[in-house]
Amino acid sequence: MPSNSTKILLLITLVGGMLVSVSSNSWLGAWMGLEINLMSFIPLMSNVKNMYNTEASLKYFIVQVLASATLLFMVVMKTLTEDLFTFEMNPYTPMIICTPLLLKSGAAPLHWWFPGVMEGLSWENCALLMTVQKAAPLMLMSYLIEINAFTSSIILMSTIVGSIGGLNQTSMRKILTYSSINHTGWMLIALTTSENLWLVYFMIYSTLTLTVVSAIKLSGASFINQTMMTNKEATLMKFMMFTSLLSLGGLPPFLGFLPKWIVIQAMITNNMTPLATVVVVTSLITLYYYLKIAYSSFMILNTEPKWNLKLHKNKQTKNISALILSTISLTGMAVCTIISNIN
Ligand SMILES: *[C@@H]1O[C@H](CO)[C@@H](O)[C@H](O)[C@H]1NC(C)=O
Repeated sequence: MPSNSTKILLLITLVGGMLVSVSSNSWLGAWMGLEINLMSFIPLMSNVKNMYNTEASLKYFIVQVLASATLLFMVVMKTLTEDLFTFEMNPYTPMIICTPLLLKSGAAPLHWWFPGVMEGLSWENCALLMTVQKAAPLMLMSYLIEINAFTSSIILMSTIVGSIGGLNQTSMRKILTYSSINHTGWMLIALTTSENLWLVYFMIYSTLTLTVVSAIKLSGASFINQTMMTNKEATLMKFMMFTSLLSLGGLPPFLGFLPKWIVIQAMITNNMTPLATVVVVTSLITLYYYLKIAYSSFMILNTEPKWNLKLHKNKQTKNISALILSTISLTGMAVCTIISNIN
C-alpha cells in the first residue's frame, strides 16, 4: 500500500497522463499518455495486505497492456501507409484503432475484465476506474468515431449488456460496473453527435458516480442485503444512496435524466430513431430493477438490529460532502432547467 504522499504523486501523474493523451497531436503521444496513466494507476490499486486488490491490479495490468500494445501496433501500422502526425485515414483504420480503445474503456463486447477487476478494488479506486480512466480513451475515440454499423453494434451491445447484466446482481460494485458499461454506450452515442455533448454527459456521469460511491462507502454496505438492515443513524445514508442510484439510472426529476434527455433529443434530430428506441427500452429495464431494489430497501425490510451500532459520528466531514453531492444529484436538473429558462 503506497503511503499518502506517494498516493498524491501517483494521482497527479495519473491525471497528467490523461491530459497528455487528451491534448497530444499524434497517435504516438496519445499512446504515451495512456501508458503514463496506466503506470500510475497500477501501484494505486495494489495493496500487499489484500489479496483481492493484488489480483485485480494484475488482471487490470494484463488487459490494459494488451490494449496498449495493440494500439501501438496499429499506430505503427498506420504510419507505414499514412502520415504519423494526422488523424485522417482510410475508412477501415478508425474501426481498427477504435478496438483497443474500446477494450480500455470497457465497452460491451470487450467488457469481460471489468466486473472482475471492480470486485477486487476499494471504493476510491472503483470511482477512479469508472470516471478518470474512461476520459482519455473516449476522447481519443472522438477523433475516429462516426455512426456506422460497427459503432451502432458496439453501442447496442453496451447498453444491452449494461442493463441485462445488472439484473439479479447483489453486489453494489457489480451494479455500478454494469451501469458504467451502459453509460459508456451512451457516451459513444453522445460522441457521434458532438464533443460538447459528450463532455456534458461525462461531467454529469462522473458527478453521479462519485455521489453513489461516496454514499455507499459511508453506509458501509457492499451488498444489497446489507442495505436492508441498517440502524437509525444510517437512514439518511440509505436515502442518499438510493436516490443517487436512481439519479444515475436516469429517473426524471433527478440530475441523471438531463444528459439522457439531451442524448435522446440529439439521436432523434440525427435520424437515429431505431437506435434510440432500443436504447430507451434497455434503460427502462434498468429502471425497473433499480426501483425494485430501492423500494424493497426503503419499505419492506426495515429491521433495526440493536447490535449493529456502527456509528457515523466521526465521519462528519465525509457526511457533509456526501450530502452536498447528493443534493446536487437530486435537484440538479430542476436548477439547470430553471437557469436555462431565466432570460
Ligand atoms: C443506462 O443509461 C441510461 C441513460 O442515462 C439510464 O437511463 C439507464 O438506467 C442506465 N442503465 C444502467 C444499467 O445503468
